[in-house]
Amino acid sequence: MASLKGQKIVVVGGSSGIGLGVAAAALAHGADVVIVGRSLEKLRAAERALDSGHRVKILAVDITKEPEVARAFDEIGAFDHLVSTAGTPPPGDPIERIDIDVVRRFFDSKLIGAVTLAKHAVPTLRKGGSMTFTSGINKDRPPVPGGAVVAAIAGSFGYFAHALALELAPTRVNVVSPGWVDTPMWDEMVGAAKSGYFAEMAARLPAGRIATPADVAAAYVYLMESELTTGETMHIDGGHRLI
Ligand SMILES: NC(=O)c1ccc[n+]([C@@H]2O[C@H](COP(=O)([O-])OP(=O)(O)OC[C@H]3O[C@@H](n4cnc5c(N)ncnc54)[C@H](OP(=O)(O)O)[C@@H]3O)[C@@H](O)[C@H]2O)c1
Repeated sequence: MASLKGQKIVVVGGSSGIGLGVAAAALAHGADVVIVGRSLEKLRAAERALDSGHRVKILAVDITKEPEVARAFDEIGAFDHLVSTAGTPPPGDPIERIDIDVVRRFFDSKLIGAVTLAKHAVPTLRKGGSMTFTSGINKDRPPVPGGAVVAAIAGSFGYFAHALALELAPTRVNVVSPGWVDTPMWDEMVGAAKSGYFAEMAARLPAGRIATPADVAAAYVYLMESELTTGETMHIDGGHRLI
C-alpha cells in the first residue's frame, strides 16, 4: 500500500457530506487536500471544520462548466489523487412525469461532470495516482417508482471506471458505491422526515445502522492507497444489496 503522507489530493464535493469525510480522512493520513464545490460559503465552512491550516485549499468550481474545470486544474498543478463525490439530489418523478431538463442537469452534475473532471485531470495527475468516483445503492435497489434515471447514472460509473482504468493505466480508476449515508443531501431531500427513514432502514440493514461519512471515507482512502486495485467498484452499503 502506498502512503498518502505528503500526497496532494483533490476532493471534488469536499465541502459537504461524504466528500468532507474523505477530506478529513486524507488529512488524517498526512495528505494535503484541495476541496472543490460550487459554493464558496460551504467551502469556507468546510475549511474551518477541517481546521488543518495550510494543508487545505479551497476552490469554487462548478463541474458542469468545462472552462471552470480546466482553469481549476491549471491552478491546482501537479497532484496525486482525484476523488469526486459531487452530486445533487436525483430526480425522483415517475418516468411519465419526468422533467427532461432536470434529467439533463442531473446527468451534467454526475456523469458528464465526472468525464469533464477526468479529461482535465489527466495532464497534471501523477501517472500511477488514482481517480475515484461515486455511484450508489440506487443502481442496485432503485426507489420505485422514480428510480430509473438515478439507477442508470449510478450504474454507468462502473463501466466508466472499467474502460478508463485500461485507457489511463498505470493510473488507477475506481468507484465507491455507498448505501445510505447521513449527509446534508438527506436533509435537503426529506428534511425532518430523515430520522424516521433512517430508523426504518437501520432496522432492515444487516449492519444495523446508517453509515456516517467517515465510514465511507475509509473506502476512498483504501482505493487511493492500494496500488493493485483498479477498475473496481467498492460497495460500502451495510449489506443493503442483500435485502
Ligand atoms: N448520502 C447518501 O446516502 C448517498 C448514497 C449513495 C450515493 N450518494 C452519492 O454520493 C455523492 C455525495 O453525496 P453527499 O450525500 O455527500 O451529498 P452532499 O452532502 O450534498 O455533498 C455534495 C457535494 O457536491 C458538491 N457539488 C454538487 N454539485 C456540484 C457541481 N456541479 N460542481 C462542483 N461541486 C458540486 C456540493 O457542493 P456545492 O453544492 O457547493 O456545489 C457538495 O460539496 C452524491 O453524488 C450522491 O448521489 C450519496
